[in-house]
Amino acid sequence: MKNKDVVLSGIRATGSLHLGNYLGAMKFFAQLSQDGTKDCFFFIANLHTLTTKTDPEDIKRDLKEIVLDYVSIGIDPNVATIFAQSSVPETCELNWLLGCLASMGDLERMPHFKDKKDKKEAKREMVNAGLLTYPVLMAADILGPQANLVPVGEDQYPHVELTRELARRFNTIYGETFPVPDLLSGEAIRVPGLDGTEKMGKSDYNTIDLSDSSDVVRKKMAKAMTDPSRKKRSDPGNPSVCNVYALHTLISSGEELKEVLDGCKVAGIGCVDCKNIIAKNITNILMPIQQKRAELAAKGPDLPLEILHEGGKRARRTISVTVNEVKDKMGVPSY
Ligand code: TRP
Ligand code: SF4
Repeated sequence: MKNKDVVLSGIRATGSLHLGNYLGAMKFFAQLSQDGTKDCFFFIANLHTLTTKTDPEDIKRDLKEIVLDYVSIGIDPNVATIFAQSSVPETCELNWLLGCLASMGDLERMPHFKDKKDKKEAKREMVNAGLLTYPVLMAADILGPQANLVPVGEDQYPHVELTRELARRFNTIYGETFPVPDLLSGEAIRVPGLDGTEKMGKSDYNTIDLSDSSDVVRKKMAKAMTDPSRKKRSDPGNPSVCNVYALHTLISSGEELKEVLDGCKVAGIGCVDCKNIIAKNITNILMPIQQKRAELAAKGPDLPLEILHEGGKRARRTISVTVNEVKDKMGVPSY
């Protein structure tokens, strides 16, 4: 058994990243990689992206953007391994091998699959097989580098549970091979959307992008939904039903947070001022990230590909050892 923790997480390459990705997951990834006690793998799940996207140019562009985002939020590519899923063909081999241990019924019962299937069928679109086997590829992602800690959001818990099941099943049939990975919910938090919905990122109207300028942040916040029953400045508000306040609790602190909370309840503060405070605090988070990104951009357009190339080699070296062992144990070595 390994003595060093191995952390792995991935993000699907679909569009640019937003404050919800940052506060909900990536900030935590950066912290995990910075404490020096863990081997960290952070990858871009561009093969998973193919289950929902078909434009090759889009997929390539998003991939590079995410690499720069990863680095600008504080993941050092010399410390953590940043790579593209598609750089490691061994993961696809492992996907097949694990697929032969996965139960069709389990896959069909995955909430993510059922949801996607229903939506596709409602639009009379094809339900591709990749959507069904999505969690098997995820298990291959996790078990390939023998990760024992997986930081993911709530929506991914069933997938990690299936991964655990496959690891146990493999170990039972073929002998102790994989650590059964644990969820690392850590500080995973849900970041509410600006339009009053419960999650940032569902649509363009409800997100703050990591690249938004202070002006854009202010304008987006100005349009954000507040407590709908607070119609006039003189009406007291109810922070517990206001997403702007929910954002405050994630971002603001101390006296400022208390002033917003108490002020809102007695109409001591207006929504305009309340939103200006949060806009300022959001900009304070985004500024260093954007600065770092500008520095990276100044190093030229090849940087993301260089990072992926190095990371891909490193990831492949680790993962191919596992996959060779698995193939041997299953009686299908490369001859
Ligand atoms: N399915 C994950 C998501 O949509 C991304 C992902 C793919 C992942 N493979 C993974 C996350 C392995 C953690 C571990 O966010
Ligand atoms: Fe929401 Fe702030 Fe307005 Fe209160 S003052 S309703 S917390 S935006």
